[in-house]
Amino acid sequence: MTELNAKTRLCGLIGNPVSHSVSPLIHNQLSRMLGINMAYVTFPVEEQDVEAAVKGAFALNILGLNVTVPHKQSVIPYLADIDAIAKAVGAVNTLVHTENGYKGYNTDITGFHRSLMDEHIAIEGEQVILLGAGGASRAIAFLLGREGAKTVYLLNRSVKNAEDIAQAVKSYIGRDVIVPMALMEYRNLPNERYLCIQTTSVGLHPHDNDVVIDDESFYKRVHTGVDIIYNPYETRFMKEVKKAKGKAVNGMKMLLWQGVAAYELWNNVSVSKEQAQAVYELMKRKLG
Ligand code: ATR
Repeated sequence: MTELNAKTRLCGLIGNPVSHSVSPLIHNQLSRMLGINMAYVTFPVEEQDVEAAVKGAFALNILGLNVTVPHKQSVIPYLADIDAIAKAVGAVNTLVHTENGYKGYNTDITGFHRSLMDEHIAIEGEQVILLGAGGASRAIAFLLGREGAKTVYLLNRSVKNAEDIAQAVKSYIGRDVIVPMALMEYRNLPNERYLCIQTTSVGLHPHDNDVVIDDESFYKRVHTGVDIIYNPYETRFMKEVKKAKGKAVNGMKMLLWQGVAAYELWNNVSVSKEQAQAVYELMKRKLG
């Protein structure tokens, strides 16, 4: 953020709650580094006010919004346009000001993709285990399908949710790539080495010692483990992966890159790896 003045453009986050968000730190730091006259703040918005919030923001010529829980689906009817993959997933987290209204994007998806690339983790041709079938898993499942994962075993406590995601991804990419399974069936997975992505809320602070699959033999099949949790910085899932000699990463890079991707859309700039790394160091100090 440079000095606020009559030319300052505003962006912000709508959701509920928003007061613990790290997004202001990401965006205001990017503006400082790039010398862009933009400020980023948070707006707590109740469910019944989503329409008024989106229309009001547009009326105020607000440059862009991020959208978080619980509004990622409910903003969609109030958009002028929506990106193809965000539409298929049915969730947006970034609104970009256009002539006729906001266009919705899902930078949770592009951000997750960039975080994997940053860590040199491949998707194409990979055997993947995806743990959990909530909102985050759904977005990641579409990415894995689109980027050519060989097979994605989608394991969830409630199989029905996994089946719904498998069906939606199949209609989007026209290929049967997701295999829905009950979490407890993990012992029946083909004997291969996997990229395993952990998207359940199990292990989130203050339940640091919980893990969704508590069985050492499972982790021997995992060459790389990605946990989308970043608090704690090293989850029990990551510890188990490392114990079995796998590579483990947390969700902080996903958080970083979803922010960077939104910032780039709003300001029509590209953020360098070095600039992103500087923001990451700041996030680590604040959250890690
Ligand atoms: P998000 O939007 O972050 O993905 P979510 O939509 O609330 O969050 O999804 C939470 C995920 O964690 C779901 O897959 C949930 O499993 P169910 O679909 O069976 O509810 C999973 N989850 C939460 N607590 C769990 C537990 N104790 N054991 C196994 N899975 C759990």
